[in-house]
Amino acid sequence: KTVAIVGCPFSGGQPLRGVDTGPIHLVEAGLVEQIEELEWKVKFDGHHEFEDVKAANDPPIGILKNPRLVSRVCKAVSAVVGQHAKDGHLPLTLGGDHSLAMGTISGSLSMYPDVRVIWVDAHADINTIASTGSGNLHGMPVSFLLGINKRPPPEHPNASGYDEAMAEYSWVKPQLTSDRIVYIGLRDVDAGEKRILREHGIKAFSMHEIDKYGIGRVVEMALDHVNPKRDKPIHLSFDVDALDPTVAPSTGTPVRGGLTYREGHYICEAIHETGCLVALDLMEVNPSLHDAVAVSQTVAVGCSLIRCALGETLL
Ligand code: ARG
Ligand code: MN
Ligand code: MN
Ligand code: MN
Repeated sequence: KTVAIVGCPFSGGQPLRGVDTGPIHLVEAGLVEQIEELEWKVKFDGHHEFEDVKAANDPPIGILKNPRLVSRVCKAVSAVVGQHAKDGHLPLTLGGDHSLAMGTISGSLSMYPDVRVIWVDAHADINTIASTGSGNLHGMPVSFLLGINKRPPPEHPNASGYDEAMAEYSWVKPQLTSDRIVYIGLRDVDAGEKRILREHGIKAFSMHEIDKYGIGRVVEMALDHVNPKRDKPIHLSFDVDALDPTVAPSTGTPVRGGLTYREGHYICEAIHETGCLVALDLMEVNPSLHDAVAVSQTVAVGCSLIRCALGETLL
């Protein structure tokens, strides 16, 4: 078995510099060697180099920021992830911001049309062109994957640029269905996103459900929802901000009240145990935020989550 690391030094889906150095820090912390210690071969030929779309050539489309850059980078990532999947490798994408998941999940869908997505995050990242307040594309990848971007009415504040934006993102095949994604860890969901989740009947386990049922039952219920027979491929997209900021401080949009160290690791262990994992993302590590201790703590927990998803056990 081979893990193919796709390092994505990319920050265009959000405004803070530094998240583009996340993959570099994860690899420098010894991630490749750590995965080789498990039962895997590792393929890593350096970090992905992206087409240089200068900010000057990428003015906003309506409210969307860096729309062409994010689109082109995600399209390239989709091809790379899809090719690794077709090679029989397990693609491990290191972010970079979470807009990249538009690429990684599109890549998984190209090989596994029935892939199930487990999205672990403080945020739902399901804003549409109509609902986004920030225009940051890392808050929107799921809406493109589901194909739920409806045209806003002409009087809507985000109406302008709709056609141009949809044309730029027309490469994203809306192949994911709302019953094939499940969220764990949510606690900062915009009002518009709550409406979208309800309208599409999308299953989400927020921190409230984790408090109520415990992480063990939550993961079981999440798997029962998207993969009741445990026979379908799983793409795990893990945003490090799902963890509590005391556990993973170096991330751009931290939210208090998050997953404990063990809860985060339990999710990865339990998904490994299904034997269904076909792709993994570890996103939003930003080594330019907070001091050196916080950074090494965040990078170390990122490596550790990845190891658990790839089969590291406590005993
Ligand atoms: N909901 C907010 C937005 O759309 C925050 C999104 C944060 N996303 C993330 N991948 N950290 O801007
Ligand atoms: Mn390959
Ligand atoms: Mn998040
Ligand atoms: Mn996210």
